[in-house]
Amino acid sequence: MKRKGIILAGGTGSRLHPSTISVSKQLMPVFDKPMIYYPLTVLMEAGLDDILVITTPEDQAAFQKLLKDGRQWGLNIDYAVQPSPDGLAQALVIAKDWLDGAPSALILGDNLFFGQSFSVAVRAAALKSEGATVFGYRVRNPERYGVLGFDSTGKVTSITEKPKKPASDFAVTGLYFYDANASDYAAQVTPSARGEFEITDLNKIYLDKGLLDVELLSDTTTWLDTGTHRSLLRAAQFVSVIEERQGRRICCPEIVAFDQGRIDAAQLRALAEPLRKSGYGQYLLKVVESQPRV
Ligand code: G1P
Repeated sequence: MKRKGIILAGGTGSRLHPSTISVSKQLMPVFDKPMIYYPLTVLMEAGLDDILVITTPEDQAAFQKLLKDGRQWGLNIDYAVQPSPDGLAQALVIAKDWLDGAPSALILGDNLFFGQSFSVAVRAAALKSEGATVFGYRVRNPERYGVLGFDSTGKVTSITEKPKKPASDFAVTGLYFYDANASDYAAQVTPSARGEFEITDLNKIYLDKGLLDVELLSDTTTWLDTGTHRSLLRAAQFVSVIEERQGRRICCPEIVAFDQGRIDAAQLRALAEPLRKSGYGQYLLKVVESQPRV
């Protein structure tokens, strides 16, 4: 069965208040595009066509206005709600019927990845049919994240959510590939001390079964989160530096769809025209114009 993608875009965004009181965090801009475009294009790069966007009930309409049913980008986008922010593992439970026995990739709506080696790692993970794959990334402040512990041979032996004394500098990023059992395993997870269904506990189920692949992302990959005012600004600065230096824009669903043959030049032009007053739209038009005419 074909793997399906889930973007978890719930939560209160309380660390970005007051900016996120009336706007979902994952709709906030990261430089030139809404935050959710970044995880969405990761799932597209992984070759997935069916995507479920999980939001709070009150934010769902705004996401639908932006992403529609996905057909404009050659995707099928569906929506579900997480009534209260009770933890990331709940996404798999909410998605169970929608997944209908398919393997999945879950990505957090506020995670930003960039890099050629990352795309290669993602495509490889998407091809595995059994078990789960998570990605480790070296960070300065591992205590903020799920943290990997290794034995002397480099094998991962533990994952600990927000440990006071981290076993390593390697955080688990917010992108998870699961086989068809994830929803059932997620239903076995019980609330943690902070009252949440932790994604780390779901990953530990796979680890205990010997079914967890951990891929360490090299430092040619950039992984940023956007959970605080400063990290959001840094992410925007990163995107602007790359885009202005290279003269191209990254993580645009229109361009990824076009490059992957999900849409043709005429469809790309139709998407670009209404956006032509923005630099984003002008870039899409530039890409269309630089194509040989068909
Ligand atoms: C969540 C997960 C954590 C993971 C992180 C990645 O934490 O619980 O394991 O490392 O996402 O972004 P949060 O940032 O939601 O507190």
